[in-house]
Amino acid sequence: FHVDWDLSAAEKAGYDWFMRKEIYEQPKAVLDTLLGRYNEARELTLDEVRIADSELKRINKIIIVACGTAFYSGLVAKYAIEHWCRIPCEVEIASEFRYRDPIITSETLLVTISQSGETADTLMAVRHAREQGAKVIAICNTNGATIPRESDAVIYTHAGPEIGVASTKGFTTQIAAAYLLGLYLAQVRGTKFGDEIAAVMTELESMPEKIQRVLDNTDQFHALATRLSDKRSVLFLGRHVGYPIALEGALKLKEIAYLHAEGFPAGELKHGPIALVEPGIPIFVVVPPHGRDQLHDKVISNIQEVRARGAQTIVLVEEGDTEVEPYADEVIWLPKASTLLQPLLAIVPLQIFACEVATRLGHDVDQPRNLAKSVTVE
Ligand code: G6P
Repeated sequence: FHVDWDLSAAEKAGYDWFMRKEIYEQPKAVLDTLLGRYNEARELTLDEVRIADSELKRINKIIIVACGTAFYSGLVAKYAIEHWCRIPCEVEIASEFRYRDPIITSETLLVTISQSGETADTLMAVRHAREQGAKVIAICNTNGATIPRESDAVIYTHAGPEIGVASTKGFTTQIAAAYLLGLYLAQVRGTKFGDEIAAVMTELESMPEKIQRVLDNTDQFHALATRLSDKRSVLFLGRHVGYPIALEGALKLKEIAYLHAEGFPAGELKHGPIALVEPGIPIFVVVPPHGRDQLHDKVISNIQEVRARGAQTIVLVEEGDTEVEPYADEVIWLPKASTLLQPLLAIVPLQIFACEVATRLGHDVDQPRNLAKSVTVE
């Protein structure tokens, strides 16, 4: 009696790709990352943060350092941390950081984001910052990896192993962990009151279920991939936290579908990118929820501008926001969320779209050409 046993197929739990499995694991991965961090006394307790409150109160600058997808989660983190903590926050590509003689003091907090915890450039940034007297907090998915071991503190993302080279659940859990860090610093430094933190935590805790709702309706993303997989170039636009989502959506498509894809801040359109717009080019646009800042309306004008030049607009917008419909060739409805938390939802259709395009083009989604899961050389 002989049974064919394929370990890899078994680990994929019925999915064709690890990446697809990992996309679908996001509700649980985000939930697990949030779990046990907010107690009944409505206090955030990040027990791996072994830096005294007195030290955290002295911090006058945060520098977030990361590579690849983790860098884009860092860009999202900046908006949240500055908004909640009122500490200036820079985000930098790890390979650029050390070589420009950055200004680091004992009042600087370096935050590294790394799924593997082994990326060489990020590790070098940790060593450099610590030599200059900065405290380092690592956001990492791999227990006991080098970066968390060499840091003063660590917030683990509990995503479970990520096998697909293109990061998915790594990204959303990094964002969730960064929100926790931002709220924790706000709590310690008193820049947000308990009630305000509680309100964000309540919303954050509702996100896994909303991500699940996006994952329950993916036919549209599959159809889009079928319709657009012969395109040579795809653009992504966003503003505020939608901008890093545009960058990450483009990165997914480059990494696994080998398509030319670029993300831009929608407000920069007129300063160059609009010259790329030609009839038929697909442009994904992340629309922020209605707010006091008019960003929503500005993004809608950007959609009109590219539509008028013949672009096919695929618009990600929250349910019930019908204003955009007349200018959209396709609307992807997202569950309602506040602006800062919307990235956890908006990225999901873009991940699936990239996975579907790559599959249709016959590429190995899990092991794209020329890429490594973890880059351990500088
Ligand atoms: C490589 C991977 C990317 C990842 C980046 C950073 O380039 O292919 O998916 O985002 O490294 O990896 P890290 O483990 O530091 O998050």
